[in-house]
Order: sequence, then C-alpha cells, then structure tokens
Amino acid sequence: MIKSLCKRTRFLTFLSFLLTIFFINNIDAAEGGPCKDYGDCDKFKYSLNDMESLQRGASTYINYCYGCHSLKYSRWGRVAKDLQIPEDIFFENLVFDKSIKPGDLMTGAMSDNSVNWFGVAPPDLTLVSRYKGDDWIYSYLRAYYEDSSKQYGVNNLVYPGTAMPNVLLSLQGNQRLVCKSVPVIANNGGEKRDENGNTITNEKCGFLEVQEGTGELTKEEFDTLIYDLTNFLVYVGEPIKATRERIGWYVVFYFLIFTALASLLYREYHKDYLK
Ligand code: HEC
Repeated sequence: MIKSLCKRTRFLTFLSFLLTIFFINNIDAAEGGPCKDYGDCDKFKYSLNDMESLQRGASTYINYCYGCHSLKYSRWGRVAKDLQIPEDIFFENLVFDKSIKPGDLMTGAMSDNSVNWFGVAPPDLTLVSRYKGDDWIYSYLRAYYEDSSKQYGVNNLVYPGTAMPNVLLSLQGNQRLVCKSVPVIANNGGEKRDENGNTITNEKCGFLEVQEGTGELTKEEFDTLIYDLTNFLVYVGEPIKATRERIGWYVVFYFLIFTALASLLYREYHKDYLK
C-alpha cells in the first residue's frame, strides 16, 4: 500500500515537472516569437576566442553606436586588454576624448537631451545581449527597411516602430520590402504544376531586399560586420564568458579523472568488507 502510494506520488511529481517545462517553453511561442514580423530570429553563434572579430566589432561599435549608446559597466582599459589591443594603439584610434583614462567607465558621449530627440533615451547596451539575446540583436540590425510613413523613413521587422534610426544605412544600402512569386507547394510537399507542367506561383510579400548599388558593402560583408558587432556585444555582456567556458571543460575533465580514482579507491576498500 505504502509502496504504491509512493510510486504514485513520484509519478505525479514527474508529470508536473514535465508540464512545467512544457509551459515555460511555450511562453515565447504564445507571444508570436521575439523577432515579431521577421518570423524566427536568425541563429547566432558567438566566437569569443576570435580576437579579430571582436576587435572589428569594437571598432564598429565605437564609430557607429557609442555616440548614442553607452557601455557604462565596462572600462576602456579592460576592453583593450581583453581584446588584446595594445593600449597606446587602442587609445590613439578608438578613444576620441583625450581626457579619458584606461580605468574610466564607458559612460557614453550623449548629452541628457537625447530623450527629447528620440522620444526614448537610447539604452545602455552593456547587458543587451543578456536580456534580448544574441539572435535578436543579429536579426534586428539587419532587418531595417524603407518606410516613408516613419520619422526617419525606416522601420524594422524585428522591432516594429523602433525609435532608433538606421545608422548603418550607408553601409548596407537601401533595404526594402518586396514581393516575389514563390511556387505553390502541394499537399504532398512538391511544387504544384498546371496541366502544361508549368510551376504555379503565388505572389508573396514581405521579403527584405537591398537595392543594388546603394550600399558600400556587399550583403556578405554587411552580414560579417553585424556578426562582429553582435559578437562584441556578447563579449561586453559577460567579459569573463570565454574564460568561464574554458575552465568549465577543465572542471568536467577533473571530475572524470576524480571519479575514476574514487571508484578505484572504493573497490580497494570494499575488498576488506567482503572478507
Ligand atoms: C542616433 C542615436 C543612435 C545610434 C547612433 C544607435 N542607436 Fe541603437 N537605439 C537608439 C534608440 C533611441 C533606441 C531605442 C529604440 C526604442 O526603444 O524604440 C535604440 C535601441 C537599440 C537597441 C535595442 C535595445 C533595447 O533594449 O531595446 C539595440 C540592440 C541597439 N539600439 C543597437 C545599436 C547598435 C549596435 C548601434 C550601432 C550600429 C546603434 N544602436 C546606434 C539610438 C541610436
């Protein structure tokens, strides 16, 4: 009797555990996904040991973003050191205010008037990769499109109605929403054809396309630029991340060896009991 009760409780606990996981996973889905009109966010995989990528990201950030967005939980000297940029080169090329010292926080170059200019103060981005996610940032910065009904003439599929202008427009070029004819897919998964064997197409809208010749960078170059920029924001969100992950492997390795030794020791002691 007690045994079966115990079993039942265990089963119920397990069931509620599964249900909790199911509901937690569904919170995002219920809101239509974090990337809104863009659909699923593009996947982003950081590479925090790629110093060149991080250095390029830092340079892009300071040149194009730092004017509005501070990184007030980071210090100049720490960024230079972590990204392996010699301090003199770093300060000469990336720090425009010559009164800044390596130990200073990156408090931004914006005056307090910014709320009046944008309606919203540009948020500090030190932790943005932690609360928005790297997939979100990577998609957001590539999802601007021309929309003459908006204040800056642009809108964003990931963050509809964003108060941030498209500051990288000259690099990316003029991106627009276009319609394309796409093949109609039949129930069996193949393309639908008419009696003459021609593919039946349907007009679908909402595709992002850059007008050729309007940007300084090609699509691949622009994607790399945003990759490096996002990679840098992931680094800034947790400067110790690369080290932490490396140490994590050592710890797992240590536990494997330790378990092996402990089990050998256990076997050795156990011999005495069996006598
Ligand atoms: C001209 C000022 C300006 C510049 C330059 C600028 N931004 Fe912004 N940014 C804003 C404003 C204003 C917002 C707030 C938008 C809103 O909430 O509607 C914002 C929001 C964001 C957000 C969303 C943050 C959040 O918490 O919702 C990200 C990410 C971001 N910016 C990244 C960048 C990056 C990366 C650059 C450099 C390529 C950049 N921004 C350059 C003004 C700027």
